[in-house]
Amino acid sequence: MIPTGLSFQQAPPISGPFRFFLTAPWFLLSAAVLLIVMGPDLMRSRHAPAALAATHLLTLGFTSMVMVGALLQLLPVLAGLALPRPVLTARLIHWPLTLGAISLATSFLWSESWLMVFCAGSLCMGFGVLLVSFLLSLRPVCAPNVFLDALRHALVGLALTVGMGLTLLMMRDHGLPISYERWANLHPQWGVFAWSTFLVMGVAYALIPLFLLTPAYPKPVVRFLVPGLMVVLVLKTLISGVSNPEMGRLEDGCNVVLALGCILFSSVTLRLLGQRKRKVMDVAIYFWKIGMVALLLGGVIGLLLPWAPQDRIENLRLTMGVLLLPGFLVAVIHGMLYKIIPFLTWFHLQSTYPRSGIIPNVRELQAPYRVQQQAAFYGFSLLLLVLACWFPSLSRGAGVLWAIDAWWLGSNLLGSAMTYKRVQKIARSLPTA
Ligand code: HEM
Repeated sequence: MIPTGLSFQQAPPISGPFRFFLTAPWFLLSAAVLLIVMGPDLMRSRHAPAALAATHLLTLGFTSMVMVGALLQLLPVLAGLALPRPVLTARLIHWPLTLGAISLATSFLWSESWLMVFCAGSLCMGFGVLLVSFLLSLRPVCAPNVFLDALRHALVGLALTVGMGLTLLMMRDHGLPISYERWANLHPQWGVFAWSTFLVMGVAYALIPLFLLTPAYPKPVVRFLVPGLMVVLVLKTLISGVSNPEMGRLEDGCNVVLALGCILFSSVTLRLLGQRKRKVMDVAIYFWKIGMVALLLGGVIGLLLPWAPQDRIENLRLTMGVLLLPGFLVAVIHGMLYKIIPFLTWFHLQSTYPRSGIIPNVRELQAPYRVQQQAAFYGFSLLLLVLACWFPSLSRGAGVLWAIDAWWLGSNLLGSAMTYKRVQKIARSLPTA
């Protein structure tokens, strides 16, 4: 039941990661409701207040929330690293991140200074505790580990994303002697590429071959892709402030390399998924395939963007944003949640009540999810959202479909949490041998 190479001795109590996993779907639902309420106004420009609010309900409230919860679980299990006081650490990250994501989204819609101060304080605290506790735990490790190498780059990316985001927030309220536009272009790239995509790459290198029985990722990809893209992001950041034609072309070159990185990772992953030994469809595969196709298409748009007709650039950028966020990251995270939640529910019940004989196995816990139907529905919802980038009148329809998907995900995860509680109650009432 537990693949070799994973050490569960140091796994944190279930409440640690679960609080993040059970919170995230409701942020996805809020972003969908915002799209229903604001409709075409949200899809007209990615800088529109409603678009920025929806972007951060997704990137802070959903993707970052689940990624932090997953890290709390994966760090001990994949690298044998115990976090200091895992439940207290989880609490000190979860509440500020939740309040910070809500108040940041609200501050985009109603730009009140006190709201910006409150959200800056919450996000500083949440991400501060996260970065300090993870970097402290990572310090003693020097043995090469594919997951940890990618994680270190992702944490640097997170620190820079949060730093730039908070600076942008201050500039919106106070104005600072630096170029807003430059940072407003760099911040999303560090957030989506370095923090989010590097982490997904590290998780994929470590877990896809292990859980889905595929061949291992090619060594050059594992060794050079994340550090290589990191160098390109740093170079792009350094030259982005220099306004001359050569630097402009070099910056385009950096964007093309980042796009090629997405195309390489997604096509290698799709090939490995096609070569897996166990041919039965696993719950995670449906969503990982959707995510990889979206990342591939997002990469292709990124590749062609420098040569696109001027009047189509904004629609293409919006489409790329939709393919990279709801398309790639949100899809992959659906797959991870549908794999992690039933596994942890079974693992904690089995390790606490090994002789109760009433513990449902992982397949029984996954059965109520109806993942195949949801993945098909998800694919259609994504298609409608992409079309809404070109025909904003489709936005509200897309919002309704995304709200249904978020509710579907949230109620499935709540169902597993309630099953855990129910089985735990029965197991506790059973006479011990
Ligand atoms: C402390 C946390 C954060 C703060 C305070 C923050 C703040 C901001 C601000 C003020 C903007 C507006 C820039 C503009 O006017 O276009 C922005 C844009 C954006 N942020 Fe964040 N952000 C944070 C975290 C993140 C994270 C973690 C991600 C991604 C994983 C992210 C992704 C984005 C994206 C994609 C946009 C650009 C929207 C666009 O131009 O298409 N942000 N952020």
